[in-house]
Amino acid sequence: MKKIMTTTAGNPISDNQNSITAGQRGPVLMQDYQLIEKLAHQNRERIPERVVHANGSAAFGELEITNDISEFTKAKVLQKGEKTKLLLRFSTVAGEAGAADAERDVRGFALKFYTKEGNWDLVGNNTPVFFIRDPQKFPDFIHTQKRHPASNLRSNTAAWDFWSLSPESLHQVTILMSDRGIPKSYRHVNGYGSHTYSLVNDKNERYWVKFHFKTKQGIQTLTNEEAAAIVANDRESNQRDLYENIEESNFPQWDVKIQIMTEEQALNFKFNPFDLTKVWPHSDYPLIDVGVMTLNENPKNYFNEVEQASFSPSNVVPGIGFSPDKMLQARIFSYPDAHRYRVGTHYENLPVNRPLNEVNTYHTAGSMNYEKKEVTNAYYEPNSFGGAVEDSSYAEPDLKIYGDANRYDHNIDNDNYSQVKDLFNLMNESQKEQLFSNIAASMDGVPMEIINRQLAHFEKVTPAYASGVKKALGI
Ligand code: NDP
Ligand code: HEM
Repeated sequence: MKKIMTTTAGNPISDNQNSITAGQRGPVLMQDYQLIEKLAHQNRERIPERVVHANGSAAFGELEITNDISEFTKAKVLQKGEKTKLLLRFSTVAGEAGAADAERDVRGFALKFYTKEGNWDLVGNNTPVFFIRDPQKFPDFIHTQKRHPASNLRSNTAAWDFWSLSPESLHQVTILMSDRGIPKSYRHVNGYGSHTYSLVNDKNERYWVKFHFKTKQGIQTLTNEEAAAIVANDRESNQRDLYENIEESNFPQWDVKIQIMTEEQALNFKFNPFDLTKVWPHSDYPLIDVGVMTLNENPKNYFNEVEQASFSPSNVVPGIGFSPDKMLQARIFSYPDAHRYRVGTHYENLPVNRPLNEVNTYHTAGSMNYEKKEVTNAYYEPNSFGGAVEDSSYAEPDLKIYGDANRYDHNIDNDNYSQVKDLFNLMNESQKEQLFSNIAASMDGVPMEIINRQLAHFEKVTPAYASGVKKALGI
């Protein structure tokens, strides 16, 4: 049986090719509501793109827990044998929606796990660290990555000016400028929760945790020249690679691992374990196997399931919690705020954002609230009419706080260099040469004063780093 085309009100449409006109040559009549509806809807086809990470690709999949880590967490999603549906969105940070994929940039690695206890979102990157450690600096940092407000061009000067004035960025800048700065595809990146989070077990004991997702496809990267050649022919190389591999049932997989630190160890550790510019060395805190993650299903509708997907570090489940990391604390506010603006007040009602379990809040009304929930007398809390109630068994253990409230200088007594040296020493000669030449290329047009300021930081990591970059710059 043929389907009859309709307006949004369900009224059948007789002709979708010809507007109603007064006479064969026009003009068009106001009563051609069908034309008006079409044009009005076209004007509303876009929502604001993400302020960062606008360009991305996603797929659905499954997390399977293969090891017993119940001594650390009671979270159902992390119990041995558990299988959980997930959405993973990869992205680049700086480019607008539609930017070329094969660009030098950090890759976003945003996960939404649809668990039995509500959604758990782990919104990470393909790097274990970040450029800054205090959220006050985030909007300024992002301004340097986006376009100059007058020229509307990306600015190497702004990027290196900010980095050279923010030495805490050196670790992440070194990863970004290394061979790993342009991944060959999304299938060939590791993912990291990056922040320190917490786990709570059934005895209500807290552990600090870092999450790692190691690609089973192996790390594969592109040089600047290889990437330029790809972009010349294909701006969607990573979207294409992910989509086509999943269509062909070549499902990408990641090994899921954690590092664990006790609260006692955190108090006595040699640096602040909640500092997002540092890793926990594997020799001190070895990786513990948790499970495997597989991507096995492409979205059916990119706009509905990827553009409107709303990830937020604020979404945690019992047994998984936050940490004092200042950056994480700011992100807990920032993401749901972005979603209410970008997608709409009730963004969590959309199928891609909805948890599997029943949602019981006392929020009411609001734009686009289309839930058909029966309204009872229990529309406030506390009430005497059998409405949903709190349950103290979900309370987390106390978090001990030390010190006085103040604006603490996050660079005083902070070692911005040692872990960069560890990374530099991991690189073979060819990787070091790529690092030097990638930095030199990205310093094109940057004033000498800024370059010299940055060279002084490389020198503090190790003189070999500074001299390599100088040589590549022809200094
Ligand atoms: P390890 O030698 O035990 O671990 C090094 C890690 O770095 C491995 O996980 C490796 O994993 C990854 N790695 C190897 N080469 C590069 C590269 N060129 N760019 C980025 N990552 C690389 O040493 P530590 O744990 O003491 O860490 C040393 C340095 O390694 C750190 O300062 C940090 O820069 C980097 N690193 C550390 C991680 C950690 O959680 N400890 C995680 C990732 C990087 P793989 O090849 O699978 O990515
Ligand atoms: C996206 C803010 C740091 C990873 C976003 C968005 C905002 C934001 C507003 C857009 C959200 C949307 O519209 O859907 C911030 C702030 C930060 C911060 C304020 C620091 C204070 C980080 C860090 C990471 C990260 C440290 C990784 C470890 C991501 C990813 C996305 C994103 C992966 C894309 C999510 C998606 O695919 O939809 N960020 N961010 N951000 N951010 Fe951050």
